[in-house]
Amino acid sequence: MELMFKKDLLKGKRILVTGGGTGLGEVMAEAYAQLGAAVYICGRRLQVLEETAKRISGATGSKVVAKALDIRVPEAVEDVVAEIWADGGPLTGLVNNAAGNFISRTKDLSPRGFNAIADIVFRGSFYVTLACGKRWIEGGNKGSVISILTTWIWNGGPFTVPSAMSKAGLNIMTKSLATEWGPNGIRLNAIAPGPFPTKGAWDRLSPQSANRGESRNSIPMGRNGEMPELANLAVFLMSDGCDYLTGQTIAIDGAMHLASGGNFAALAALGDSDWEKIRGEVKSANEKDKAKRAV
Ligand code: HXC
Repeated sequence: MELMFKKDLLKGKRILVTGGGTGLGEVMAEAYAQLGAAVYICGRRLQVLEETAKRISGATGSKVVAKALDIRVPEAVEDVVAEIWADGGPLTGLVNNAAGNFISRTKDLSPRGFNAIADIVFRGSFYVTLACGKRWIEGGNKGSVISILTTWIWNGGPFTVPSAMSKAGLNIMTKSLATEWGPNGIRLNAIAPGPFPTKGAWDRLSPQSANRGESRNSIPMGRNGEMPELANLAVFLMSDGCDYLTGQTIAIDGAMHLASGGNFAALAALGDSDWEKIRGEVKSANEKDKAKRAV
């Protein structure tokens, strides 16, 4: 991947990327490894993670370790973070990237549907942040946390309400802990990506029947984001060169949310039969993923 930084910028760093086996997490994990960091990736599909770890370490020569972990389970988070600390010392960085989401009318959600998302994004990200943060504080180590949010934290996420609520919570976690943990040398920032199409998200957010034609016209920059652009920001925020930058959430969306809202408001045009089809398409994407899960 073509990055804008010198080759060994992150040498000596040890970074955990949750959900690092695929999608944006994989992109960031690769960028960190490419710049010399040791990288840990975790998720529910061990085989997918192992393949990614092997590919990235082969391509970069850096250490990349795969860990099976469902971040919804606090005891499992504790165990895996303890294993990572035992495997070569404290982490220097954490990326809260793991997420779950699907489009649905809010009136059609069950409490379990709400929790399926909130338990991953809201609670799970907190568990991982806590497991790292308390170790950094106890050991007197510096740390840097990046949470992957969305621009809906500013203008709401119609048809993605559990995700919007959860990510808004992480936004305020970022600001709160930047203050609380600043004296410990711990920084927290967040990235709100716009359209960077990945399979995991697009299967669930733009299934065929939703086909809202995501007009490129609604993006002032006239195109989707490119992965190295996201990776550059994720590297910048993780590097020592911006040690004074904390408590910030940075949108990277070609000005989409400023121009168009950037959310799913347009789905209000869909009717009952559209939503029935969408639910079926999202379910089949979920079933395919589930078949590969180790935890
Ligand atoms: C309504 C649904 C549903 C749907 C699931 N549920 N899909 N309800 N419409 N389309 C309900 C189920 O009916 C069930 O409730 C409950 O949710 C739990 O379903 P499970 O499939 O058992 O959940 P689980 O195995 O925990 O899977 C979690 C998941 C899944 C979130 C549903 O999609 C997942 O694991 N996703 C991970 C990858 C992902 O989503 N990536 C996209 C991230 S995009 P009942 O009551 O029926 O039992 C993102 C932001 C992108 O985060 C921003 C872009 C700009």
